[in-house]
Amino acid sequence: MSTLSDMPSSSLDNGQGVIDPDVFFEQNKAPANLAEFEAKLEAFVSYHQAQKNRIVFITSGGTTIPLENNTVRFIDNFSSGTRGASSAEYFLRAGYAVVFMHRQFSLQPFHRHFVPHPHLNFLDYLQVTDNGAKVATAYEQQVKTVMTEYQQAKDTNRLLLLEFVTLPDYLFKLKSGTRILSGLQSQVMYYLAAAVSDFFIPSAKMNDHKIQSRDGGLTLTLDQVPKFLKPLVSVWASQSLIVSFKLETDEQLLVPKARQALESYGHQVVVANMLHTRKHTVTVITKSSEKVVSLSPEELASHVEIESRIIPQLVHIHDAWIDSGSTLA
Ligand code: PMT
Repeated sequence: MSTLSDMPSSSLDNGQGVIDPDVFFEQNKAPANLAEFEAKLEAFVSYHQAQKNRIVFITSGGTTIPLENNTVRFIDNFSSGTRGASSAEYFLRAGYAVVFMHRQFSLQPFHRHFVPHPHLNFLDYLQVTDNGAKVATAYEQQVKTVMTEYQQAKDTNRLLLLEFVTLPDYLFKLKSGTRILSGLQSQVMYYLAAAVSDFFIPSAKMNDHKIQSRDGGLTLTLDQVPKFLKPLVSVWASQSLIVSFKLETDEQLLVPKARQALESYGHQVVVANMLHTRKHTVTVITKSSEKVVSLSPEELASHVEIESRIIPQLVHIHDAWIDSGSTLA
């Protein structure tokens, strides 16, 4: 079998060292659980298609970049999945059916309220009684509110949790997801909040086994990941509303790069956020508008979440997308 390094670069890349998205799928192995992923998604989609419900496909959390085919070590990023998990709850409130494709062990809707926290351990929610244990009185109301919404989402089959771990895992599932959702056309919104790696090591260039420290220091060369937004927007999901995210650490770059993304890929919305202020300020950008959404110090202190302000705006844009027959100006 030939390896990537045996092949003439012209058959693999666009002249700038970046392979074509189709080549990526030929050169990398599909995840072992892809068939199971597809079966779950197909059942969910056909149920909601029959009910004529809107679906939002949320991606959330970071992707890992394995350094060995039998992976011991990998490169990761900071994303905890807060944005995606919290957004899922507001989309459910807005009446959407939610496909929540998240990085394994990153935050999940509803469950996120009870994960360990610097000031509160999950066990503090519980209290021992004479007969067993119960929710501590101080948290009863909070637990009831979260559990009621969770139960409703489950009873109405409106939340599907699906997982990914590595970059190839994410990309195979995203592509496959768009194929399964394609029949719903403009009724679908893609909300791409996952922090997807821009660099990776193709399977054929990776060590099969654990890299040995006896060989001395380690120098890595990473290839650039093709820009999958391009085929996603123009081929895989061309009738659906696509919301991508732009994350920067330099304020000067944020809006220009978000606008550049809209122009290069031709999709409908970019939510631009800065690493350190992402929980209280974002800018929602379309071709014809730019709206800063932010929380006041008082709102932050009373635990208002910025996603409660972002989602209604996107629902409004989605209404217009559907009404215009997928041709939003
Ligand atoms: O999870 P949290 O801790 O709450 O943090 C939330 C967040 C900051 C991760 C989230 O709000 C966010 O900004 N997510 C996108 C971060 C990111 O990957 O930005 P980017 O500039 O690298 O990518 C821009 C867009 O292009 C993304 O929507 C991505 O889906 C897409 N992309 C990226 C790489 C690639 N090869 N192909 C792509 O299509």
